[in-house]
Amino acid sequence: MNIGFIGCGQMGKMLLHSVIKTGDPHSILVTTKTKSSAEALAVKYPVKISESNARLVTDCEVIFLCVKPDDLNAVFTEIGTLDTSDKLFITITSENAIEERLTEKTRIIKALPNTQVETGDGIILYSPGVYVKENDIEIFRNILRAAGSFVKVSDDLYRYRCHH
Ligand SMILES: NC(=O)c1ccc[n+]([C@@H]2O[C@H](COP(=O)([O-])OP(=O)(O)OC[C@H]3O[C@@H](n4cnc5c(N)ncnc54)[C@H](OP(=O)(O)O)[C@@H]3O)[C@@H](O)[C@H]2O)c1
Repeated sequence: MNIGFIGCGQMGKMLLHSVIKTGDPHSILVTTKTKSSAEALAVKYPVKISESNARLVTDCEVIFLCVKPDDLNAVFTEIGTLDTSDKLFITITSENAIEERLTEKTRIIKALPNTQVETGDGIILYSPGVYVKENDIEIFRNILRAAGSFVKVSDDLYRYRCHH
């Protein structure tokens, strides 16, 4: 299973670090805004750098969305027209309307990790979207099992915690 990271800055890197602890880095694909960030990542981790966000989405089954809200428009300009109904998105971006910008039936888990995920002592709040199946939650928790513990929250609480 290929796992993609769209954006891999401060928090993306912490999650990537956790995923690599228990997973195969060669099946991880990453994009960043600038070439220099991507190159620096590829020096540190044996991950693949994708040529574009659209390519990454096409090539991955699970996609972490780790850009800042201001960068979402650029990302959705690239991936918004793709059929993502067979993909699992894990978004850490504090933006509410992700569902409206991806194909209907896309499985979306909204996650709010804290910085302790880097050392394995983190807490990840998560809110599964309506199309998310129990198996998707297992995949999500399994991929991030080295990050810490998980607390399922309602979408309302997730939104509240994103902004407080
Ligand atoms: N930092 C935290 O403690 C924390 C905790 C919980 C949640 N979050 C949330 O996580 C999100 C990311 O925060 P951050 O602190 O990790 O931000 P960040 O350090 O600025 O990282 C953002 C990443 O997105 C990349 N990016 C921007 N536009 C892109 C595009 N069009 N295509 C692909 N990649 C693109 C950037 O690439 P470049 O490196 O080339 O600029 C960078 O790698 C935010 O929504 C934030 O609210 C952060």
